[in-house]
Amino acid sequence: MAYQVIIPAAGQGKRMGAGKNKLFLEINNIPVFILTLSVFEKDEQCHGIFLAIHPDDRRQFEFLIQKYHITKVRALVEGGKERQDSVYAALKQVKDDGIVLVHDAARPFIDLPLIHKLTKVTEMTDAAVIAVPVKDTIKKVLNNRVIETIERSSLWAIQTPQAFRLSLLLRAHLKAEQEGMIGTDDASLVEHLPHPVAIVEGNYDNIKLTTPEDLFFAEAILKKRQNE
Ligand code: CTP
Ligand code: MG
Repeated sequence: MAYQVIIPAAGQGKRMGAGKNKLFLEINNIPVFILTLSVFEKDEQCHGIFLAIHPDDRRQFEFLIQKYHITKVRALVEGGKERQDSVYAALKQVKDDGIVLVHDAARPFIDLPLIHKLTKVTEMTDAAVIAVPVKDTIKKVLNNRVIETIERSSLWAIQTPQAFRLSLLLRAHLKAEQEGMIGTDDASLVEHLPHPVAIVEGNYDNIKLTTPEDLFFAEAILKKRQNE
């Protein structure tokens, strides 16, 4: 199933505390965002990558994309204040009403079988996301007091990629813009239309590099894969 992918990479990586965009940090000597882009670079079904970046990082992105021979980047789009702004800016550059994926640059461990499972489901449902069942018990808390324990069997942790029919995602972002709504992911804007969003079960390896200890997990995941 042919698709194009939007990769938001315009954040600052504040929680990583590296003093620079965390996407330039290296795992096994390769920058995080290059690991992510490489997955799509090698996927024949991926017909174009739209990368949202911070203008201050442009030269470094351009340099590394060339260095690692990434050929599918169709546009380096200036991102915005929120992740949602960055995705929307890139979304406006995507042509052809096919399937568009949105995938965080900070999730380098996504694999092709899962991407293909997701696009297949999206072909039927127009909107689908990768998710895993929550392992912890989740409680709602207010002022350090438990308000409620939420039934775990109905809880899923939502990851990226998230995949949509392009026209549907455009409609969702336009509506959110008009209403001043900020969602924490793209699916929440589609839900708000309203339009149903399907779940495709992923795996626990697909972590988002957010805080410093995630770098240790990342190295462990890479090592595991190299031994497989
Ligand atoms: N992102 C973006 N534009 C923003 C904010 C985030 O494109 N205005 C991107 C990040 O670069 C990242 C993805 O969205 O690839 C997920 O965001 P997150 O993990 O929160 O990264 P940062 O915002 O960079 O990190 P932090 O929140 O700790 O500052
Ligand atoms: Mg952020």
